[in-house]
Amino acid sequence: CAAVGLLVRNQLRSSGQCARADAILKEFKDKCGAQNSKLKQVADAMTVEMHAGLASEGGSKLKMLISYVDNLPSGAEEGVYYALDLGGTNFRVLRVQLGGTERGIINREFREVSIPPNLMVGTSQELFDYIAAELAKFVAQEEDRFHLPFGRKRELGFTFSFPVMQTSINTGTLARWTKGFSIDDAVGKDVVGALSSAMERQGVDMHVSALVNDTVGTLAGGKYANKDVAVAVIMGTGTNAAYVERSQAIPKWHGPQSESGEMVINMEWGNFRSSHLPLTEYDIGLDAESLNPGEQMFEKLTSGMYLGEIVRRVLCRIAEESTLFGDTVPPKLKTPFILRTPDMSAMHHDTSYDLKVVGSKLKDILEISNTSLKARKLVVELCSIVATRGARLAAAGILGILKKMGRDISRDGEPQRTIIAMDGGLYEHYTVYRVCLETTLRELLDAEVSKNVVCEHFNDGSGTGAALLAASHSSYAS
Ligand code: GLC
Repeated sequence: CAAVGLLVRNQLRSSGQCARADAILKEFKDKCGAQNSKLKQVADAMTVEMHAGLASEGGSKLKMLISYVDNLPSGAEEGVYYALDLGGTNFRVLRVQLGGTERGIINREFREVSIPPNLMVGTSQELFDYIAAELAKFVAQEEDRFHLPFGRKRELGFTFSFPVMQTSINTGTLARWTKGFSIDDAVGKDVVGALSSAMERQGVDMHVSALVNDTVGTLAGGKYANKDVAVAVIMGTGTNAAYVERSQAIPKWHGPQSESGEMVINMEWGNFRSSHLPLTEYDIGLDAESLNPGEQMFEKLTSGMYLGEIVRRVLCRIAEESTLFGDTVPPKLKTPFILRTPDMSAMHHDTSYDLKVVGSKLKDILEISNTSLKARKLVVELCSIVATRGARLAAAGILGILKKMGRDISRDGEPQRTIIAMDGGLYEHYTVYRVCLETTLRELLDAEVSKNVVCEHFNDGSGTGAALLAASHSSYAS
């Protein structure tokens, strides 16, 4: 009888604790709510901020950076060009052989190297020397067929995926770091200067012909493949967008009007902020403890660097206030950034009846063994809340751009097709996220328009795009 009593008491206790876990989850879900009406407000706020950022330097949290790309690749580019793509935990060195209008891209080779974490927070010289040394190895392995005509230097497009205030197509100073990089001595300095000096030290004889953000590279690579590409969005470690703006609509641009009358704008939308964003205490905590408090709020709600960390923070609170994960808070759960978004994605996509993947991830990463099915289900639900909010907000951001471009409504005559060139690991690998983003965008758009707005994945568009821009801005161009 006593044993039964104890069992009942334990069950009651545990169901009480589960109720607390459920309550925390429900409260979080309610605060993350991003119904369509709210998303439309977010999109409108994005459009307003775009106008403000274009009007004057510092006019908005959206920097709306001028890329100096006023002509996207035409298809006639020819020759061998290089690209260096730096912006996340890995960087890539590429060689692209372009065959002009007839042959397009003939050959593309690349080498991918991960960046040791200590270099992300060290000195500028250490980081750039490391990159230049890899570039040197890549070039050293080349076969004779890539030798350039006598007296001609190799030309490089440098994709540098951080906010840069450009002063020309191949010069610009770093405004600040994002995505976990923090190298103080690089801020305010010319990034091409830093790379060129490192290349010289490593004996690489190359000229940087174009400095581009990954969004701008993706836009260039996308447009080369399909002329209907007008916007590029990266959903990866960080997030950002670029689009083609009319130069007349950029009051802060005092440079010459190009023949095309257009200019590609790097929005740096990761720094977008609005009172309409559904922020929770967990996001506020994450921001306060981040390397860049007060900055990149949109990025912190939507991108790969942060989604897993939001999940961890909510789980931590649940572990503190319930016994769903045991009597004490599992120590690993207290480690910031221990739960990466790829692991969150794997748990979210677990379709096994007993949520085996969730169980093993919790065990392997957080050292929480023997989780109940109830606990695993809660984790999946939590991943879904965080991913859904992020994907829906990203869709709202895209709607904001389409509004600014006047492509959110159908006009008389020929329907205008808009392709959004998408890239980034989050978009590529987190299927539920990608599907949610695309479905939400369709929901937000008028049915007629939505038929003509397509998100398309352009894998490694940014590297190829940078090589293409190096070609179209070659110092040897006639
Ligand atoms: C961060 C960077 C931005 C980049 C984006 C995607 O937001 O600031 O420049 O485009 O990440 O990589």
